[in-house]
Amino acid sequence: MCGIVGAVSERDVHGILLEGLRRLEYRGYDSAGMAVRQADGSINRAREVGKVSALADFVEQNPCKGPLGIAHTRWATHGEPSQINAHPHMSGERLAIVHNGIIENYQELREALMAEGFEFTSQTDTEVVVHLIEKEYRVAGNVLQAVRAAIAQLRGAYALAVLHADEPDHLVVCREGSPLVIGVGIGEHFIASDQLALLPVTDRFMFLEEGDLADIRRDGVTIWDREGTPVERVVTRFEHGIDSADKGEFRHYMLKEIYEQPKVIKATMEGRITDRRVLEQALGTGANELLADVRHVQIIACGTSYHAGMVARYWIEELAGIACSVEVASEYRYRKHVIQPDTLFLCISQSGETADTLAALRQAKQAGFRAALAICNVPGSSLVRESDLVIMTHAGPEIGVASTKAFTTQLVSLLIFTLALARHNGLSEEREADIVTALHQLPGQIDDALALDGKIAELSRAFIDKNHSLFLGRGAMYPVAMEGALKLKEISYIHAEAYPAGELKHGPLALVDSEMPVVTVAPNNELLEKLKSNLEEVRARGGELFVFADGDAELKEQPGIHVMQIPGVHSITAPIVYTLPLQLLSYHVAVLKGTDVDQPRNLAKSVTVE
Ligand code: M6R
Repeated sequence: MCGIVGAVSERDVHGILLEGLRRLEYRGYDSAGMAVRQADGSINRAREVGKVSALADFVEQNPCKGPLGIAHTRWATHGEPSQINAHPHMSGERLAIVHNGIIENYQELREALMAEGFEFTSQTDTEVVVHLIEKEYRVAGNVLQAVRAAIAQLRGAYALAVLHADEPDHLVVCREGSPLVIGVGIGEHFIASDQLALLPVTDRFMFLEEGDLADIRRDGVTIWDREGTPVERVVTRFEHGIDSADKGEFRHYMLKEIYEQPKVIKATMEGRITDRRVLEQALGTGANELLADVRHVQIIACGTSYHAGMVARYWIEELAGIACSVEVASEYRYRKHVIQPDTLFLCISQSGETADTLAALRQAKQAGFRAALAICNVPGSSLVRESDLVIMTHAGPEIGVASTKAFTTQLVSLLIFTLALARHNGLSEEREADIVTALHQLPGQIDDALALDGKIAELSRAFIDKNHSLFLGRGAMYPVAMEGALKLKEISYIHAEAYPAGELKHGPLALVDSEMPVVTVAPNNELLEKLKSNLEEVRARGGELFVFADGDAELKEQPGIHVMQIPGVHSITAPIVYTLPLQLLSYHVAVLKGTDVDQPRNLAKSVTVE
């Protein structure tokens, strides 16, 4: 949730830290700060409430320069967003730390430290950590030992970067439950919560594993595992190129990412399908043999990724005839379950660092599942490293907090997975070829959907003075409606609820009046006629309908019914194509309302805390 950056160099690093924070701002953005060891041996700390730009303005007036530094952008968990609660936190004048995560036993540690005379100035759990390290430093006399001793007393999740004014040559960092990556430079090294932060200075990265502790110096890095054994972590190169993390000509990252979908969907399919079938090795070595044994699928995810899982359930049960359950990770991890024999555990996550999803995976690995498969967008993420099999979504960096291209590439990956699974369960070659052909048509169909952008922008005007909205769909379009509602609520702050259209008359119809826009996704499938009757129910109550429908659906524009025609698509791939107009709708409503599209209030891109 929070973002960490650090650098050890010969040159002044404050610009690197600020740029890193800007690139990490999607992780949290209620306050930001940095601490730099200055030439006179002191630590200069700057902290500002609000966005990184506020910190940058402050630092321009009050220089904060030096070759060793740490920085942080915060998403508040303990204590309100304020300067006092912003990181870095210090113990005395010589020791500073930044932290991402949550310390669960902070209350008891705080009381013990206060009893020993440490004075607390913030409400954060992080301040406990810095005083604890200081206490251990007084015993050990060096930062590395002090950090090692301190983290042995912590319970919870953390990624930490520690700087001491009396040890000007290095940073000490560690991770447990929160991501941390080391950027490898030439004669300098960097650390960050996410490799995107460091792309302007390096494209070579080492990912720390759970329990790792590392000493970061200009000329080298030493890493120890949880047992204290020195370990090597492989250096990998970032594949996507530095521009992939820039906005380019687009006004917002979200819009850029919506428009990237034809390209990234192609990339996700590349090397996995021929013109008629899914390749045997599409899901990696050993996957095909494993899929032959799978009798059930348990999907776990959060938010948008959960919606992708909900769509996949329709596909898996229809095409593979295999039972599939889907559950949000935060619920799944805290209940008892019955696991059927030969169940595949499937986690879906854009970031691969979502705390609840990772916790569910770690439980599952002890629980007797056949294997754990991850569908993920971030190479080197915890989810990727800890799963038995992985399907990478190849969406490239997604910066906008509202997930767009990650969702559609998850769907494409899930459909390819479904076909590979279904082949072992009686799917005919003709049906497979038909669906693979539909997959190949997707980039063009998405281009067609993007061509509706101008009309959707017009339509979005009807939403700006509304406080509530309903989203309807049936079958696999119901999770698409859920995703549309999530997009609208998270970036425009309009309350949006999704219902399977058949449920309307069981309660929500009572809400419908002229102030309640009702958005509907209506491809031409076997449920269309039933959906049309549901729409009549809305119209009869004076509700204003916004229908995204197949040209052949014979739904006509008339007072109170706005119809946006979507070019004809295969019923299996329709959930992917119909997602696009809903993304554009929420984007334009948010722009008209003047909200912060890429960094909506109270949210963070990567939810690495519970
Ligand atoms: O990185 P993940 O896919 O695991 O993230 C899960 C959710 O936090 C995420 O999908 C969230 O719902 C989206 N940002 C919403 O657009």
